[in-house]
Amino acid sequence: MRYLVAAACAAGLAIGAFGATAPAFAADPIVLKFSHVVAPNTPKGKGADKFKELGEKYTNGKVKIEIYPNSQLYKDKEELEALQLGSVQMLAPSLAKFGPLGAKEFEVFDLPFLFPSVEALHKVQTGPIGKRLFKLLEGKGIVGLAFWDNGFKDFTSNKPVKVPDDLLGLKIRIQSSKVLEAQMKAYGAVPQVMAFSEVYQGLQTGVIDGQENTPSNIYTQKFYEVQKYGADTNHGYIGYAVIVNKKFWDGLPADVRSGLEKAMHEATEYSNSIAKTENDDAMTAMVKSGKTDFYKPTPADIKKWRAASKPVWNEMSSRIGKDLLKEVEKEVGAD
Ligand code: LMR
Repeated sequence: MRYLVAAACAAGLAIGAFGATAPAFAADPIVLKFSHVVAPNTPKGKGADKFKELGEKYTNGKVKIEIYPNSQLYKDKEELEALQLGSVQMLAPSLAKFGPLGAKEFEVFDLPFLFPSVEALHKVQTGPIGKRLFKLLEGKGIVGLAFWDNGFKDFTSNKPVKVPDDLLGLKIRIQSSKVLEAQMKAYGAVPQVMAFSEVYQGLQTGVIDGQENTPSNIYTQKFYEVQKYGADTNHGYIGYAVIVNKKFWDGLPADVRSGLEKAMHEATEYSNSIAKTENDDAMTAMVKSGKTDFYKPTPADIKKWRAASKPVWNEMSSRIGKDLLKEVEKEVGAD
């Protein structure tokens, strides 16, 4: 008996040596913490919840998936550091947030008016370019599992914005992306990097004059309650890379990992299938509320937005990679 206890302890210690997240005994479920910054009732939030449901099912309860929405564990920048340290196992940061990690190529997805449609964009993400982008993460201790959609961005502001010139001198919050910084400067705005969880207060107190985001984010974070104006410009894309800590992922038993892969595949299909409706419904709800006056740009206005945006492609091409940009332009049929 004494021998059995000693052997069990030794086994527990041995498994424990693989990392804090590995179970001490076979019966303990493996805990996978999935942190994100948006509300549960968004495309990403619902995708994460779907992954939990399927991941626990397909691994027969061997994995316990804990979802932490709304920046309750980490804010934007801290998330990626925590993942690399192994304090959290899974994230789905927006593609704009990979530049500060040294994966500047991801910022190609921030270029305004580059992608004519989500379908064109998916060709890039699911083809060889997407695979190459994920490969860039491996040296940083990260495995890329999937791309998830949110949608196209609109502006909200405390002054009417119809065309780029209306942004002149306005302090506009951006995610931490050099492309978004260049984009705002090209419009004459003053870009202000700010964590997503701080935007509502920034808008409410007037520290910033406006921001760009998808309708589902504007609605669920209640930005529309503290912004008088909006412009339905659809000028750029927000989407996500679902990523895991490489050491954690590689250390999983093969059957567990394949169960999670299957769950991720199905959660991706689900999340991408609801993204457009979620954004359309959010816009309808905001318009109905009457709190923000959303301007629908005319074709002539959009021409101005495109003209003001296009120089940003060239300006950012050496940062993103000239060849990569050319390849993406060709793949999506950009004009
Ligand atoms: C933002 O910071 O504006 C968005 O990327 C948040 C998100 O994850 O959708």
